[in-house]
Amino acid sequence: MLSVEEITQQLPNCLEGVHFENLGEEYIGKVRDNYTQGDRRIIVISDRLSAFDKVIANIPFKGQVLNQMATFWFDKTEDIVGNHMVEVPDPNAIVVKQCSAMPVEMVVRGYITGVTTTSAWYNYHEKGVRNFCGNELPEGLQKNQKFDKPILTPSTKAAHGDHDVSASKEEILAEGKITEEEFDYMADVSMRLFERGVEIAAKQGIILVDTKYEFGKTPDGKIILIDEIHTPDSSRFWFANEYDQRFAAGEEQKKIDKEYVREFLAGKGFIGEGEVPEIPDEVRVEAARRYIEAYELITGKTFDGEVGLVLPRLEENLKKYQS
Ligand SMILES: Nc1ncnc2c1ncn2[C@@H]1O[C@H](COP(=O)(O)OP(=O)(O)O)[C@@H](O)[C@H]1O
Ligand SMILES: [Mg+2]
Repeated sequence: MLSVEEITQQLPNCLEGVHFENLGEEYIGKVRDNYTQGDRRIIVISDRLSAFDKVIANIPFKGQVLNQMATFWFDKTEDIVGNHMVEVPDPNAIVVKQCSAMPVEMVVRGYITGVTTTSAWYNYHEKGVRNFCGNELPEGLQKNQKFDKPILTPSTKAAHGDHDVSASKEEILAEGKITEEEFDYMADVSMRLFERGVEIAAKQGIILVDTKYEFGKTPDGKIILIDEIHTPDSSRFWFANEYDQRFAAGEEQKKIDKEYVREFLAGKGFIGEGEVPEIPDEVRVEAARRYIEAYELITGKTFDGEVGLVLPRLEENLKKYQS
């Protein structure tokens, strides 16, 4: 694992974002900068960290960690559903099949948890919701308790800057944008992907708590997995060996996801509104350390990030895609 000194050295080298002139049609997302060229999409995974739907800070090596984690999972799940991955020309980039995104995000939850207003726990505990996106929830659930079976809580994918909205299958279908057959297919695939994720993570002593999948349609009408899969940006992970004892004691779980930064922000009084507080370097380094630790724990591989500027390497590796 990279040392704290090495991660600290990488602070000024972070990949804040890119602006390529001749790489295709540009879409700057919260975390990734996207370029579309016909049936291909080049996705540059920056080091930006987003929380509460806002960009908060650059975290050393975060883009590489996310990209390599997603490709690890694409490989491990391609027998369940095809995915968009074509090529990985740089640690911070992936070339994928351009799809038309399905207008729904498939969220699968194995445990009742969360702090934001869209979380299962907030809905259950604060708002008293007992039917969450079509799932009947029993009385008496405790925070971080495991559901009998994982539940699917779809949400509509919000336009730039908006928050996603949870919905039931019926509500999604009522919008008339996808067919029931398409919904059922994505639902079934999502549950199987989650099962696979849970199983592989468990072997590494990690609990895959919940996650979000995005699907897209290829030009020939096939539905495939797009975006990212089982990364710390799209999923929550807890340490399995401490789960029981912490749950019994009513304590928070030990987490390896971006909750660390969310909690720092919340401690400064920021929960999404107003100006984002300044993130100190120590917090950026610790966040990076956790991302790298997550990668190594979950994949069982050593993270191969190297201290140095990311942008020039990326430019070199993407040259062949420029027109
Ligand atoms: N294969 C694909 N085809 C079309 N769109 C994709 C594909 N893979 C990912 N996307 C989209 O690209 C964007 C990735 O950048 P991201 O930073 O996540 O943006 P956002 O802020 O919209 O979530 C997302 O909007 C995602 O839905
Ligand atoms: Mg996204």
